[in-house]
Amino acid sequence: MVNKCMILGHRGFSAVYPENTRLAFRKALNLGIDGLEFDVQLTVDEVPVIIHDPMVNRTTDGHGLISSMNYLQTQQLNAALDKPEHGFQTVPALHDVLNDAYEVCPEGIYNIEIKVYNDDWKTLIDRVVTVTGQHPLRKRILFSSFHHKCLEYLKASYPSFEIGLLFDREIVEPWYIAKQLKAYSVHLDYQFTSEDIISDCHAKQVPVAVWTVDRPEQIERFIHLNTDFLISNVPDVAKRIRENFAN
Ligand code: G3P
Ligand code: MG
Repeated sequence: MVNKCMILGHRGFSAVYPENTRLAFRKALNLGIDGLEFDVQLTVDEVPVIIHDPMVNRTTDGHGLISSMNYLQTQQLNAALDKPEHGFQTVPALHDVLNDAYEVCPEGIYNIEIKVYNDDWKTLIDRVVTVTGQHPLRKRILFSSFHHKCLEYLKASYPSFEIGLLFDREIVEPWYIAKQLKAYSVHLDYQFTSEDIISDCHAKQVPVAVWTVDRPEQIERFIHLNTDFLISNVPDVAKRIRENFAN
């Protein structure tokens, strides 16, 4: 899957376009980057949709839990609340996002972060796999989550999918946990990611993703350290730095 420092647009091209919308995803892929990172949850009628928070309040003009709304209700919400200059944008269904991605960048890497905000995570995994399992992008998908138990379930139930372990704290040997859980990669908060951790992971053949890297000097640092995936809100800047680095 990995052949250079791959740049993934965090929630799409979210520095400029409304996060986790089809517009932000299309704009990110049009930059010619390597793929996307985005967050998935379920509506009450079990449709996988792309949104970060458990509540819709921050990113849309609605109120309440996404998990208490049905899909049709979510389609009334404007997900461009913070960037109104981009007009009306829906909370997208996973299925539509994958179809768009396949059209624009069939060779991309799609890091689907599974957001677990309640106990019914098995249903979430099963529904997400139902949508992704038949999709032509299925081999291009890398699932990740902070909820490692849900990833363990995913890998045990659907072994052909790759998983990446998310960590939001300092962790000494993330590769060790990756091996135990049969994970493909570890996804580390860049603030806790040292040169040694990256080289240890590489020595154990475990690719490293860092998130969320936006400052140019940090982008440069992680490219220099041969990080496998760089997840950024400014994928345009990251791509430019990577190009300069190659020359
Ligand atoms: O997957 C990396 C990153 O997105 C994890 O944190 O809160 O931005 O989803 P968050
Ligand atoms: Mg995320």
